[in-house]
Amino acid sequence: MSHSDPTRSAPVLHLANVTRVHGRGAAEVHALRGVDLAVHPGEFVAVMGPSGSGKSTLLTLAGGLDAPSEGEVRVEGVTLGGLGRGRLADLRRRSIGYVFQDYNLIPALTAAENISLPRELDGVSGRTARREALAALEELGILELADRFPDDMSGGQQQRVAIARALIGERRLVLADEPTGALDSATGEAVLAVLRARCDAGAAAMMVTHEATHASWADRVVHLKDGRVASESHGRRTGKRRLGGDPLGAPAGAPAGGLGHADDGAGHAAGGFGEVAR
Ligand SMILES: Nc1ncnc2c1ncn2[C@@H]1O[C@H](COP(=O)(O)OP(=O)(O)O)[C@@H](O)[C@H]1O
Ligand SMILES: [Mg+2]
Repeated sequence: MSHSDPTRSAPVLHLANVTRVHGRGAAEVHALRGVDLAVHPGEFVAVMGPSGSGKSTLLTLAGGLDAPSEGEVRVEGVTLGGLGRGRLADLRRRSIGYVFQDYNLIPALTAAENISLPRELDGVSGRTARREALAALEELGILELADRFPDDMSGGQQQRVAIARALIGERRLVLADEPTGALDSATGEAVLAVLRARCDAGAAAMMVTHEATHASWADRVVHLKDGRVASESHGRRTGKRRLGGDPLGAPAGAPAGGLGHADDGAGHAAGGFGEVAR
């Protein structure tokens, strides 16, 4: 595949020495301390770490929802800090799909309307936007929810609508904060397969997760601790790609960089890395 070595292409997301400090003086909290991180086309990065380690802050900075105290965030080569509000909103809508932890669906709009809204704001016709929205709903296995309002859905259904909304259009960067938190394990795996497929088609994704089995869908796992990247491990998928094998077909048990790290229990699932049913 064309992106078999993701490090050769320009990153979709580049966090350069990013620091984020909240509050002042005695109340100062260093949510992130000098994080360097690049995510390339085709790469699926999982972010793990204890509560308060800076995972959500990392994601909001990457999505242009918050600005760093120091350092730079670049998306498709554009430094977000240099953009005015309008251009930042345009870039976010066109280039970034963001799955919020609490979904952030608009209650007055149906599922299909929630999903198609960013496309319509981008000038796509209502008919085309609806067709795209239905395709996204179908990809997530919830086409029957198209005309339902968020209040009439379960948390898991809302979560899948939020994921569909993040995937519509040709967004190059998908950011997701625990996108499977409200899903049962089978549905969660199905959602991860959709994210994986999006990356295999050339997008870049960064996902916060507590589940080592979910991180196993990623090419790379970044472990945060106290606002710093404590370690990075490579998933088997990257290994398979680098070996030139079929990323979906290589046997379980192939050598892995291993998720076997960390204070978050990831080590327990290292052996299960290749067992994720496909
Ligand atoms: N708006 C804020 N104001 C003050 N402190 C914050 C704010 N957002 C996050 N923090 C602090 O920054 C640290 C990292 O938070 P967060 O990124 O939410 O961590 P995680 O998602 O890993 O749990 C925590 O100590 C948190 O309390
Ligand atoms: Mg968080």
